[in-house]
Amino acid sequence: MTIDRSSAAALVTHETDTLADLGIGYPANHFAWRVILDSARERGARSLVEIGVGGGNGVPHVLAAGLDFAGIDNVPEKVDVTRAILRDLGGDPASVVVADAEDAASMAALPGAGSFDTLVGLGIMPHVDDRAAVTANLAALVRPGGELFLEFRNSLFSLVTFNRFTRSFIVDDLLAGRSHQIRQRVGDFVAERVDMARPPLPSSGHEAYYDNPLAVVPQFERLGYDEVSVHPFHYHAAMPVLESSDPQAFRDESLAMEDDDSGWRGLFLCSAFLLRLVTPA
Ligand SMILES: C[S@@+](CC[C@H](N)C(=O)[O-])C[C@H]1O[C@@H](n2cnc3c(N)ncnc32)[C@H](O)[C@@H]1O
Repeated sequence: MTIDRSSAAALVTHETDTLADLGIGYPANHFAWRVILDSARERGARSLVEIGVGGGNGVPHVLAAGLDFAGIDNVPEKVDVTRAILRDLGGDPASVVVADAEDAASMAALPGAGSFDTLVGLGIMPHVDDRAAVTANLAALVRPGGELFLEFRNSLFSLVTFNRFTRSFIVDDLLAGRSHQIRQRVGDFVAERVDMARPPLPSSGHEAYYDNPLAVVPQFERLGYDEVSVHPFHYHAAMPVLESSDPQAFRDESLAMEDDDSGWRGLFLCSAFLLRLVTPA
């Protein structure tokens, strides 16, 4: 079967035309794909593997950019949904399999393992304990000199949210290593000034991990990856608690920032960032 790249492109165009539609959740991944596929195109990539295919929303982006799509998810229903989207666009459904990023052996069965040009993992790293081990598992899926884009949640955004994350960032990260007395005093001071009831605690009882983009670059360089860089996305025009006062203005301003080159501001106004790594050639 031939891949129907024009239908894939039409789906991406539709997504682009509806970015400001409040009936659709904030389209953060649209902007992540833009960064990923610009880089893939520049490097002449021909194949991409997505870790955590979810609802298969990445498939049209990848096919429209002229690349072949493969992927895994550890939830069989997600694999089924993504296979159906891929099949409808003329792709090979067998290139999406059930596997777990934390289990290297399960991923080795993916056709093309070890040869992909680009790897993408959105929504994986905030839930894994051993980042170095999982990154090594993922790096084994690309060719030598292949690139990885991994999404992390941005802990620096906590300085803008004025909620319980603000307190924990200041006390646990910024003041790490300081005396109990100082941290306690600062913690009490901040707690009186922010909304400690937000966001609500996750029903799973497991808080996701938040990472500091300024700290992860040297961490991953030390692990031996090349060209390590950070690309913030998912802008918030203001603290999330203000969003309900004028949701359309909030959406429009946030979308505008994704398109601007807002430089260092993205390190604080974005709730997520992509970490780009290249494996040694
Ligand atoms: C945020 S969603 C990704 C959404 C997807 N990119 C999309 O646009 O539809 C994260 C996905 O990763 C999958 N996932 C989480 N941890 C995983 C793991 N350790 N191995 C494989 N898949 C995982 C989840 O089942 C979920 O479908």
